Amino acid sequence: VADVPAQSLALTFKPVAKSVADVLSVPEGYTATVLLATGDPLKAGVTAYKNDGTDHDFNNRAGDHHDGLFYFGLNAAGNGWDASNAQRGLLCINHEVAEDLGFMHPAGATDYGKDSTNQRPTQEIGKEVAAHGVTVVEVTKTATGYRINPENPLNRRITAATLFELAGIAAGSDAMKTAFSPTGQQTRGTVNNCANGYTPWGTYLTCEENWAEYFYRREDDSVRTPKELAGFKRYGIKGDTSGRYNWARAGANDSSDLYRRWNTGVSGATAAEDFRNIANTFGWVVEINPFKPDETPKKRTSLGRFAHEGAWPAPVTAGKPVVFYMGDDSRNEYIYKYVSDALWNEADANGGMAAGDKYLNAGKLYVAQFNADGTGAWLLLAMDNKAITAYPDYAFNDAADLLIHARLAADAVGATKMDRPEWGAINPLNGEVYMTLTNNVSEKNGRGVATPLDAANPRYYNGVKGEKAVAGNLNGHIIRWREASNDHAATQFQWDVYLFGAPASAAVDTNISQLTADNDFSSPDGLWFSAVNPGLLWVQTDDAYYTDTTNCMMLAAIPGQVGDGVSTTLTNKAVATNNGADQDVNTRVGKQPGDNLRRFLVGPKDCEITGMTETPDGKALFINIQHPGENSSETWATDGNMTSHWPDGGNARPRSATVVITRNDGGKIAV
Ligand code: FEO
Ligand code: CA
Ligand code: CA
Ligand code: CA
Repeated sequence: VADVPAQSLALTFKPVAKSVADVLSVPEGYTATVLLATGDPLKAGVTAYKNDGTDHDFNNRAGDHHDGLFYFGLNAAGNGWDASNAQRGLLCINHEVAEDLGFMHPAGATDYGKDSTNQRPTQEIGKEVAAHGVTVVEVTKTATGYRINPENPLNRRITAATLFELAGIAAGSDAMKTAFSPTGQQTRGTVNNCANGYTPWGTYLTCEENWAEYFYRREDDSVRTPKELAGFKRYGIKGDTSGRYNWARAGANDSSDLYRRWNTGVSGATAAEDFRNIANTFGWVVEINPFKPDETPKKRTSLGRFAHEGAWPAPVTAGKPVVFYMGDDSRNEYIYKYVSDALWNEADANGGMAAGDKYLNAGKLYVAQFNADGTGAWLLLAMDNKAITAYPDYAFNDAADLLIHARLAADAVGATKMDRPEWGAINPLNGEVYMTLTNNVSEKNGRGVATPLDAANPRYYNGVKGEKAVAGNLNGHIIRWREASNDHAATQFQWDVYLFGAPASAAVDTNISQLTADNDFSSPDGLWFSAVNPGLLWVQTDDAYYTDTTNCMMLAAIPGQVGDGVSTTLTNKAVATNNGADQDVNTRVGKQPGDNLRRFLVGPKDCEITGMTETPDGKALFINIQHPGENSSETWATDGNMTSHWPDGGNARPRSATVVITRNDGGKIAV
């Protein structure tokens, strides 16, 4: 890879206007078609989803809250990956949460709040558990466009009850042992499957993000070791909670450990009830072979435990390590990368889980440090790094303990706290890596409040948005870097900021990228470089700070390269921040995005746009609309009001859905 060649690529569509209507808007000449919404059947013979809360068999239906997704073209035999097949493929779709419980049950959910100590109906819990996880489903191009094929035997669900093997360095360690798996080699369930990834050997990666909120924990802290409590605190596993959905409190007649396993309590637990370590079996990158349902999915512990957004592979080269970039999406958390010990061999290109064992179980985990001068370093998280063993706040036992507590290890080496790292993407033209930093807002610990501004996270806002007082980085930005010598295994890099989100009407010190009515946005989240049209970047938003003006959206961009974006330096001058350090952000603004950034799509009300993948001919784009109408999910059952009825219209309950976008003249998308 070399410098970006002269751009032959140009955006060819007319920008879509901002909108707060309950519709999905795409440019003139394009069509968006709903493929698979929450509850839709995945198997022949499953009845159409009634969408009235009475269908319970989510093991045979699309789950809820569609998120990251990936298209694997099917080979002629229909049992392996053909990366060139645009006619027929398997879609792997994440289902992050079952958050809109009010829409999932007939008249709202029962006692699901984290403060509730009441028991919940087992049937409701079973349905919510099954609505989490991943869908694998065939999509086929027909004479009338792409359709789901319910006849493919590979169609299946992975849920919050599915069996997983724990693999890699932390598997089998004492901290992974539970009543279900006394050897610490297995666990059940994956939750909060946010963004995703894929491997060069034809498997799917799904990533566990806000898993820390799922556990019932009401035990007395005195039964915990100080190190356990330090881990709970650092990962946000709180006490005095029944967990996000109160899943541990199934009905009185159902004491199955399928429910008890969400309870971390240890007081008085028998060996058969002891799930004190259950939370350590969540927070991982999870590998699934979509082509081989008989291969048990694996949680890959060598990639570290945190609030994983996704895992994005660098392009592979024979004889070089396999590299994945990862973000930890919480306020003031870090960017990581994993570099395999094993060197890439093309013979593994359809290697399934055995190749996963080869490349994902042993490697080096690094965390990023962004320096003010535009350089950066990857800091090694390993027991032979003195900064780890000398860390005064936590004594790591061994490599397994380090991986289970990767956040503490990253603290120990002095990594750079970022404004919520979400999706990453690698530019196929030049190997540069992009990552969205969605926002960092909190009156207690947002950017510029408890965490000082720095060159890579330089924005601070203090004011009122809607009815809420807010402080921090409100609209987010997109950072990018180029590894030394364009080697993804390098430990040094150069970085700049490609783009700052902002309302077009904002003052120039906020609207640094000089966005216009055609491309202004807030809170970038999803990110995807087209492989078919190298240099074409897609950006999706998950926003709560510009929604009075517009629903969430997707933009297309042709972004240039590191060095021509925005660089920032901080000096101790004018801008007062809550943390007491007076700082001034000096920005050197390079190339503005201008016409090379255009709004391509605006979603229906109260949704997030997330997940992107394309067919290998570049003529179909798959995206997800997540949680339309979410702001009314808890209240509609009592007041009858829903903010969205998308996609079914009328008075229907809103549903998340996978959408396919094509151009009416059959051409490539966007360029
Ligand atoms: Fe589930 Fe960070 O988005
Ligand atoms: Ca996200
Ligand atoms: Ca988000
Ligand atoms: Ca969401």
